[in-house]
Amino acid sequence: MPQKICVVGLGYVGLPLACLLSKKFEVAGFDINTNKINDLKQGRDETGEVDNLVQYQINYSADPKIISEANFIIVAVPTPITDDKRPDLAPLISASQIVGRNLTSGSIVVYESTVYPGCTEEDCLPVLIKESGLKFGTDFTIGYSPERVNPGDRVHTIDKIVKIVSGSDDETLAKVAAIYGAITTVHQAPSIKVAEAAKVIENVQRSLNIALMNELALIFDQVGISTKDVIEAAATKWNFQKFSPGLVGGHCIGIDPYYLTYKAQQSGYEPKVILAGQDVNESMAKLVAGKFVGRKTVLVLGVTFKENVPDARNTKAINVMAELKKQGAEVYWHDPIYSAKHQTQGFEKYKYVDSLENSTVKYDGILIFSPHSIFKNYLLSQLQSHCLTNQPLIFDVKGFYNRAEAERLGFKYLTL
Ligand SMILES: NC(=O)c1ccc[n+]([C@@H]2O[C@H](COP(=O)([O-])OP(=O)(O)OC[C@H]3O[C@@H](n4cnc5c(N)ncnc54)[C@H](O)[C@@H]3O)[C@@H](O)[C@H]2O)c1
Repeated sequence: MPQKICVVGLGYVGLPLACLLSKKFEVAGFDINTNKINDLKQGRDETGEVDNLVQYQINYSADPKIISEANFIIVAVPTPITDDKRPDLAPLISASQIVGRNLTSGSIVVYESTVYPGCTEEDCLPVLIKESGLKFGTDFTIGYSPERVNPGDRVHTIDKIVKIVSGSDDETLAKVAAIYGAITTVHQAPSIKVAEAAKVIENVQRSLNIALMNELALIFDQVGISTKDVIEAAATKWNFQKFSPGLVGGHCIGIDPYYLTYKAQQSGYEPKVILAGQDVNESMAKLVAGKFVGRKTVLVLGVTFKENVPDARNTKAINVMAELKKQGAEVYWHDPIYSAKHQTQGFEKYKYVDSLENSTVKYDGILIFSPHSIFKNYLLSQLQSHCLTNQPLIFDVKGFYNRAEAERLGFKYLTL
């Protein structure tokens, strides 16, 4: 039977995937966000992940009926956490209800959202069964294929990343492998739970490696040596793993470990190392803000969760800004890439600088939070012209600018 695919959730993951699949298959895209659907229909992609969107033949709709025309449904909706750091499955359950109500016999539903092992079969599948009234295993089957894309990364695109695929039975696995195999290389996992666990530990590992570097940065800050210099020296050993300290934000690395720790706790194991790493990572905003104590007027350059992406959801910039405000600083921010479409809460509390050139405010502290490539146009000498003269502080989280030049210009230069 010819495959008709419907991608449910057209965000950073779903949209590029739908585009790539549309080169080989008939593809529809469903999202509950009608504004997004209208934008996509007009060729506008707010994520900036797809070049020249109009070249792809995709039937976009906010009408769930479109799902019933497909026999291969891919779910790529958000998997956030609640305020008390537990998995928030609401989008996943709601998407499963919508898919279930529009599921037709002979279909396969593949989940792509990052979850804990067991979530697809124990949390999503019962919803599909209930809402569809179909018989699992005979009328429809399920699969799981985690997404590994890295927003803002134009090198590691879906077609160049090995994709893990899994299915609820051998026949489904073969079909899932064939569909994804048409657009990229696949690795067949022995079960859905293995595929779910594999994805989540990729981010657990990354989060912990960064946490270790962050702890080292906290130690070396006390000792008075540069963490960057230490890492560079240590990395000359063949088996040293080079990671950098950082403020882990976004909706993957900072969030996904809590999916696994939740599952661990549910299964009767109290995780130690993973949660300790999360705590260290979450303490970094305070460390950065602490360096600005006594500074009265601080400019934050780049507020998105990482450089060169418009997405500021879960950015730690907002935590640093809150700490700065608590310390009594007036906080300004400037970010030419930031997209308000993601409806990030909190930025309205701080003054936005639309154009640095036209701004007359004088700062005694600058935080380079997410160093977008576009900031290459902002010379340190120009930044200095917006600063008060008495040794303004520049905290360059990722070491974007040159320390020697900054110091020559009279800045106090700090980096993680
Ligand atoms: N962004 C990444 O780099 C990345 C990488 C790997 C994995 N993931 C995982 O992929 C999943 C999706 O992430 P994303 O970054 O694409 O999220 P996103 O927020 O960019 O996009 C999700 C889309 O789903 C839509 N949506 C929400 N609820 C829906 C529903 N019930 N029915 C239909 N559409 C719905 C939203 O409107 C939005 O357009 C998450 O589990 C995430 O952890 C993300």
